[in-house]
Amino acid sequence: MSNKEIDWSNLGFGYIKTDYRYVSRFKDGKWDDGAIITDSDIVLNECACVFQYAQTCFEGLKAYKTEDGRIVCFRPDLNAQRMADTAKRLVMPVFPEERFVDAVKQVVKANADFVPPYGTGATLYIRPYMMGINPVIGVKPAEEFEFRIFCTPVGPYFKGGAKPITIKVSDYDRAAPHGTGNIKAGLNYAMSLYPITVAHEEGFAENMYLDAATRTKVEETGGANFIFITKDGTLVTPKSDSILPSITRRSICYVAENILGMKVEHREVEFAEVKDFAECGLCGTAAVISPVGRIVDHGKEINFPAGMDEMGPVTKKLYETLTGIQQCKVEAPEGWIVEI
Ligand code: PLP
Ligand code: COI
Repeated sequence: MSNKEIDWSNLGFGYIKTDYRYVSRFKDGKWDDGAIITDSDIVLNECACVFQYAQTCFEGLKAYKTEDGRIVCFRPDLNAQRMADTAKRLVMPVFPEERFVDAVKQVVKANADFVPPYGTGATLYIRPYMMGINPVIGVKPAEEFEFRIFCTPVGPYFKGGAKPITIKVSDYDRAAPHGTGNIKAGLNYAMSLYPITVAHEEGFAENMYLDAATRTKVEETGGANFIFITKDGTLVTPKSDSILPSITRRSICYVAENILGMKVEHREVEFAEVKDFAECGLCGTAAVISPVGRIVDHGKEINFPAGMDEMGPVTKKLYETLTGIQQCKVEAPEGWIVEI
């Protein structure tokens, strides 16, 4: 698809093939120089470790067009660091942080025509990923790897844009290994495909996963962390070592505390206290901040006061400040914005 055929304002969250991708190979203990290529297909041996033992991981970040026509991206260094943590846990080589940020710049620059125009609500989603590529049949890690990045223009993750969504309390565990919440291992996502299918069939936008051991504490959803606002305006975010340390959530907490002067609590959140919060939202690169209007727990509803028509007032303030920073309308804390 040429960029001229894209209806930027009506994009959903899907894959559109862009012209270029980045690839670097790891062989004999080192990464090669890397290159921008055009072929979107990958040909690998049938026994590649990625196929047999799912030795793969990914990251996600976005590039934005500013009002004055520049292209910027948001905190890519933190994606590089999180991918390094993931890689170590999955016995994969680390793709160095400076090279990661440089590769993001190269691939976004090459696909500049696909960065959605300012004001359309769409952005360029950037997907770095890595996989074990040599044949492995005994259960052990690969020795050869590919680090790749592709880009795709995207609109809102949830249908309806910024309208509040309804989610359900899941009967399933996300199977994130306890103590490894700082990684994005492919296994976790595969284990969430069945529960998300069930939730969608039942008409819910997402699942709220509770902690696997006691099913009493709030963890996260399939693709985003939670934020809650108390009735007295405090931002509360669930703390758990089996959820992903969302870069968006960490940024929102910083913004709330240091720019908006709010009280912020990052702590364990009991499901039993959720009914007492004034506002609820999901946060992530894809989700940005998506308001949750209703949570259904086996037929019992929690309805947040802002209702199903619009975001609550505090969520809105956080949303406007965060997206303002990402589009360079609000001054960013040092180092958050990387110009392409
Ligand atoms: N939680 C899960 C399971 C995710 O897949 C994501 C997205 O990457 C997030 C949370 C949000 O993380 P971030 O804000 O770094 O995109
Ligand atoms: C992201 O927000 O980047 C994610 O990884 C969420 C989802 C698309 C898996």
